[in-house]
Amino acid sequence: MSVNALRQYLEFLKNSGIKELYYPPSDKQKKLTELQKQYSTCTKCPLHNSRRKFVYGEGNPNAIAMLIGEGPGEQEDITGRPFVGAAGQLLEKMLSAINLQRSDVYITNIVKCRPPGNRNPESEERKACLPYLLEQIQIIQPKILLILGLVAAQTLLNNNNTLGWHRGKIHYFMDIPAFVTYHPSALLRNQEWKKPAWIDLQEFQKEYEKLLAATIS
Ligand code: URA
Ligand code: SF4
Repeated sequence: MSVNALRQYLEFLKNSGIKELYYPPSDKQKKLTELQKQYSTCTKCPLHNSRRKFVYGEGNPNAIAMLIGEGPGEQEDITGRPFVGAAGQLLEKMLSAINLQRSDVYITNIVKCRPPGNRNPESEERKACLPYLLEQIQIIQPKILLILGLVAAQTLLNNNNTLGWHRGKIHYFMDIPAFVTYHPSALLRNQEWKKPAWIDLQEFQKEYEKLLAATIS
């Protein structure tokens, strides 16, 4: 995690009166549900103006893997759930190709409210929303991250590099190994990226299965 992100997170913890930093597995869902409710009326950035529903994230609170997209689209804004539109359907297929289901992982986004017309979230909006993601990571304690798309990758890894630069290597965010691949929406528009995306997914799967085996044994 960058020094800035850490500073921002600690500031956020202080402001929100959070004292606990570790949640036993049995308490994680309860905590996440509480926070989802608490933050659903957030007005920290202009995205709240056009929001229909706040999209916190969902999935297994004890997941080994967390998937991080960019921000809610139309269907997500309507339902309040991440990755339920066309991109979400493709994401589910990508997961099933590596023997995973939605219920195995935790899925969320960099910004929790839909940018109007699905534009990219602005830097200020990403910054305002990031503490929520950092807190989700802190609670769930995933062992591996799959970062979906360039916006999420550049935000978390704090650079302006291309997607090509991010692919094919293991990054670290908050000390957690992180893989980067194409955003499913980009794959829907560019068929030719499906092959390289499959390569990324297999790399991710290898690491995931190692972690899974280590957790079970
Ligand atoms: N695209 C995203 O980045 N996130 C969603 O939740 C849906 C589409
Ligand atoms: Fe708050 Fe994040 Fe929504 Fe902005 S995008 S209003 S910071 S929840």
